[in-house]
Amino acid sequence: MPDEEVTLTVNGRQITAPKGQLVITAAEQHGVFIPRFCYHPRMKPVGMCRMCIVDIDTGRGPALLPACMIDVAPDMKVDTESATTKKAQDGVLEFLLINHPLDCPVCDKGGECPLQDNAYAYGPGESRFVEEKRHFEKPIPVSDVVFLDRERCILCDRCTRFADEVAGDPLIHFLNRGNETEVNTFPDHPFASYFSGNTVQICPVGALTATPYRFKARPWDLEKVESTCTSCSVGCRVTIEASRNHVLRYQGVDIDPVNWGWLCDKGRFDFEAIDSDERLSEPLLRKPAGAADGTGELIAATWAEAIGFAADAIGKADAGAIGVLGGARLTNEAAYAWVKLAKGIIGTDNVDAQLDDGLPGVAVVGLPQATIDDVCVPGTTVVVIDANVKEELPVLFLRLRDAVINRDVKIVELSSITTGLTSLAAASLRHRPGEAHLAMRALVGEGDAAAVLEGDLEAARALTGAPVVAIVGRSSLGESAGSAVEAAASLLDARPDTSFLMALRRANVRGAIDMGMSPGLLPGRVTLDD
Ligand code: SF4
Ligand code: SF4
Ligand code: FES
Repeated sequence: MPDEEVTLTVNGRQITAPKGQLVITAAEQHGVFIPRFCYHPRMKPVGMCRMCIVDIDTGRGPALLPACMIDVAPDMKVDTESATTKKAQDGVLEFLLINHPLDCPVCDKGGECPLQDNAYAYGPGESRFVEEKRHFEKPIPVSDVVFLDRERCILCDRCTRFADEVAGDPLIHFLNRGNETEVNTFPDHPFASYFSGNTVQICPVGALTATPYRFKARPWDLEKVESTCTSCSVGCRVTIEASRNHVLRYQGVDIDPVNWGWLCDKGRFDFEAIDSDERLSEPLLRKPAGAADGTGELIAATWAEAIGFAADAIGKADAGAIGVLGGARLTNEAAYAWVKLAKGIIGTDNVDAQLDDGLPGVAVVGLPQATIDDVCVPGTTVVVIDANVKEELPVLFLRLRDAVINRDVKIVELSSITTGLTSLAAASLRHRPGEAHLAMRALVGEGDAAAVLEGDLEAARALTGAPVVAIVGRSSLGESAGSAVEAAASLLDARPDTSFLMALRRANVRGAIDMGMSPGLLPGRVTLDD
């Protein structure tokens, strides 16, 4: 059934909007932008900055109200251009700028700063305040990757809400009160969050800046390409931003099925490896000592020399003695080319896209698949088998955290260790390393309950009585993947409607396996025997 709709008027034009939608969103979706600082569509509104106040008449006469805090209502009249709205906007900006240092020429946010943009578009043009501004030491590092310049902060509560509400790491907060209020981390507690870079991206001024980007570029120098993060298999949407032939920044892009605009710090900042001095930039050849011009040392060579050398060695070797590794960060096309070379030309089935640290290819492509959205459907029970989601797929952790807190999703965790999900789980069952399959049998009522060392098995059973969605990972290199795969198979036997989200370590493992980069498989999920 479609959501109930209400009809209201915005700047004299009638619009309809779903019941419960905020005025700021409804207006925007009908082409009327209401300026804002604190409002962020992926966080709860707080009404902190007052930038969005507009004339709203709910039937009791027009009043200046924050559009980010008011739901649309039938026959409501909104005027974002009235003289009173404009006077209020002038006032809010004049007040916000009382203490703002206006050091735009040396501020990383310059050119893409909502405070600059709103001051030009909605501000008074000049200030009546001539007094000395507030001063703080500038900037101070709050972590290895984030600098804080408190003078620039407009106390919008975005970074603090993100850290608390979204990431669950309330490590940055408002300190003191009144005119002394400042945003800061707690004394001796750095901003040690896996998600700190998001606060830099959503800060509407240059109060939070990223160490790798500082003073490197302006928005108009940047070439931007939309792409996918390749640092894990969540597949977060990013823009890759480069200037003068160097990648300088990744920014999260808000796409509904995956990352909602968030990135983890691993994905956001690991581009610095691209220009690392330690990165190999040319082929190295080790010719055995004793061979013609061989020294036994790695020596730089040309590509032609290196390819010739490799082709010669491959040609002389027994095909079964050759292994081909790679592909999980490449495109499907590149993985296909590798598989063609390995299986079609060299004739070896010794291939792997996962460096033997993942899950078997047949399980990855063979189990019924779930999407991120499937695990976040309200009311779902998610069974996590041996996956350390926060450590390995951090933005999936954010989605799960939101699902548990806001969407009544219940997690049943099977793990040999305490993980970042444990405190969110409705039931967390501890098993011995390598014994997830025994714990699963106990969970589905077919095995010995003694396999569960800790945790409320009865509560977990009650939650998994109906079809569930499972997340399957591999807890450590020290344990074979067999236990998690066997656990998944037991779950599927007991609950045939279960679908599975595989917690894979690299970006395109699934694509590489689809292309046959796994023993026993050919492109298109055809087995070698077939
Ligand atoms: Fe808002 Fe930025 Fe200040 Fe945080 S640091 S409260 S995001 S202005
Ligand atoms: Fe990249 Fe994975 Fe982090 Fe997303 S969660 S930003 S895909 S490393
Ligand atoms: Fe509405 Fe800040 S955007 S009060």
